[in-house]
Amino acid sequence: MYKKIDEASTYIKKLLPSIPQIVIILGSCFGELVDELSDRLDIKYSDIPNFPKSSLLTNKRILHYGTLSDKEILILNGRYHYYEGLSSEEIAFPIRVFKNLGINTIIITTAAGGIKDYLEIGDLMLVKDHISLLAPPILSGPNYDRFGPRFLDMSYTYSKELQVITKKVAKTNNINLKEGIFAYYPGPNYETPADIKALRILGADAVSMTLVPEATIAKHCFLDILAICLITNINASILYKQHLDHDEMLEVSHEANKTFITLIKGVLSGLK
Ligand code: HPA
Repeated sequence: MYKKIDEASTYIKKLLPSIPQIVIILGSCFGELVDELSDRLDIKYSDIPNFPKSSLLTNKRILHYGTLSDKEILILNGRYHYYEGLSSEEIAFPIRVFKNLGINTIIITTAAGGIKDYLEIGDLMLVKDHISLLAPPILSGPNYDRFGPRFLDMSYTYSKELQVITKKVAKTNNINLKEGIFAYYPGPNYETPADIKALRILGADAVSMTLVPEATIAKHCFLDILAICLITNINASILYKQHLDHDEMLEVSHEANKTFITLIKGVLSGLK
């Protein structure tokens, strides 16, 4: 495993003019961010040694390098999900490669369904914490001591400092940034009304099929984590007998991209 990670990192390192400290895992709803990069360089996943194969058709499968708000960043454009049949090691792989490269900050983004009534379609929600009860235990199996501890403290998964910066940027730019607790759902089917009722009772504000495994691996290797989701559908609506449509969810995101870009640019400017 270490050898595979080293091979991937060495390949990426050779292609980059220098190594960024920040990576963004880009939800498919936020694709327009990539067009904002200057000095952009694209690396296909399929060219990176040992990089897992992703099966999603909507996935771009490109690792972008570029500059945004005067910060060099990487963008993982096309994420990995358990529901594709990938193993924990495959889902963890890119994040461990980033750590190996010298990245210290990860911004994880995703589309999500709103569960609590205060959330509306098109809202950006800052993730304060997550419910991992339905998530596969991504750290089970041999521990990779070079990255982190066997028993991981998850008391402070999401960086308080990054949340403060993000909220400040939102305020300055009049962005109505919501905050809440994120819940993982395995998918690929969406939740039943009973699932949503249960998640509500557990304290979840929003739900999707990503983020928690990535945040757990990022925490394990001591990255500073910021997570932001876009509410693309209101799940409470299943309680009112409306139906969920994947294409509609993707459409919502066009309008939210501008706001998201403003927020991310502001956050990057606020980082040291
Ligand atoms: N449920 C799970 N995953 C999602 C949803 C949802 O409602 N919306 C976007 N991703």
